[in-house]
Amino acid sequence: MKYYIKTYGCQFNYSDSERVSAVLESAGLKRAKNHLCADLILFNTCSIRQTAEDRVYGTMVNMAKLKKIRPHLRIGITGCMVKRSSTKKSLKPDPLVKNMDDVDFVFRIEDSARLPQLLKETGLEVPHETPDEFDNGTLKNYFKINPKYSSQFQAFVPIATGCDKFCAYCIVPFTRGREKSRPMEEIWEECEKLVKNGCKEITLLGQNVDSYGLSFLDRNEKRFASLNVGEKIYFTRLLEELDKLKTKGLRRVRWTSPHPKDMTDDVIEAVATLETQMPYIHLPVQAGSNVMLRKMNRPYTREHYIKLIEKIRHRIPDCAISTDIVIGFCGETEKMFEETCELFEQARWDMAYISQYSMRRFTAAYKTMKDDVPRKEKERRWHRLNKILTRISHEKHKEFIGKTVEVLVEKCVKGICEGRSEHFKRTQFKGGKNLIGQIVPVKITDALAWNLIGELI
Ligand code: 5AD
Ligand code: SF4
Repeated sequence: MKYYIKTYGCQFNYSDSERVSAVLESAGLKRAKNHLCADLILFNTCSIRQTAEDRVYGTMVNMAKLKKIRPHLRIGITGCMVKRSSTKKSLKPDPLVKNMDDVDFVFRIEDSARLPQLLKETGLEVPHETPDEFDNGTLKNYFKINPKYSSQFQAFVPIATGCDKFCAYCIVPFTRGREKSRPMEEIWEECEKLVKNGCKEITLLGQNVDSYGLSFLDRNEKRFASLNVGEKIYFTRLLEELDKLKTKGLRRVRWTSPHPKDMTDDVIEAVATLETQMPYIHLPVQAGSNVMLRKMNRPYTREHYIKLIEKIRHRIPDCAISTDIVIGFCGETEKMFEETCELFEQARWDMAYISQYSMRRFTAAYKTMKDDVPRKEKERRWHRLNKILTRISHEKHKEFIGKTVEVLVEKCVKGICEGRSEHFKRTQFKGGKNLIGQIVPVKITDALAWNLIGELI
């Protein structure tokens, strides 16, 4: 019996799929090479933008056609398109997917441990019995599931899930729920085990990694902690703890994403001083206009953001910084958009992930604002920003020519190795498959807009 998981969206979903794989394999299912030979197809979905949902529907309709020739095929849906309340008791699909007759079951990602049970309820006999905690669904904390990692030398480790920030455009607080941090010991155990098995790079995941630990505190303490008076914040303490794994072979600890509001000095200090920290920070700004930031419920100004990246670059002079931008949000005028363009020139991000605003159900913007920037105008603004980004990214890459970077080799196709440098720059060079999983020095000889080219030293 074989399964196939189609994952959409962010690294969090990919990490969740590794846990789902582990549950299925503990029930005796094997991973299928592709969907054509699978007995079970699961969709781990994303709903951050309408285009993400449309992509899921498109593939789902196509794959469901397979049922005509393989009637025993079972199809399940999980992830962000599954409403939080939809599967508590029943197997009834979410209203979103109720017109999809070919969908057999829907489950919340937090209920992954119940998967073998759900499969039995849909008439699929799983090959062997699973441990009790899987069968009766008592494994409430799905983070305790030991994932089936897709790489031996790189891993994603969730440190918190959910979000309490409620940005006006964002559906995440409604799909992933309130922010909840994993206990530090649990994260440590997972990372230690990974490193013992040869993992060299760990990426910590959370919607707001720098507010890690706040969910442990009561309301009063939270106010105190977010002011960061005196003591180091929990996130920094976690980075310091994990840095100790360098003696066991851990080389890199990355994390994504922080919120500018919670980016305290001690986080910057940790990046500057800890050996496993890399000189790269992804710091979403979302907009360059203060009016937009306020409407988006982002509690900082462009001036605060600029000061923050100046501080980072002062303490870590070569630090690469990237960002997320939403353009065409409700009421964004040409002038406000120009402010975002100006911020690009000022911030000179190494990379920016630019999205066109897409209205999402449940959000404050959906309830109280008007999606009034026309689609064509959003596209025009997107292209304009992308042009600025391409130019700056190319200029930044050229600064690496002649320098030597360390690359963690992820793949090698037809004699060309590829991996990320310390600064998260995609780097290519001639080499063999034997280098996969190693960190090697590469001298940069050429720079393209989106990657570096070099020679193995
Ligand atoms: N429309 C467009 N982009 C969005 N993002 C989040 N919600 C929306 C939306 N409704 C973007 C933000 C966030 C990233 C993960 O996705 O930039 O940082
Ligand atoms: Fe969404 Fe804002 Fe939370 Fe990020 S911080 S997940 S953009 S609500």
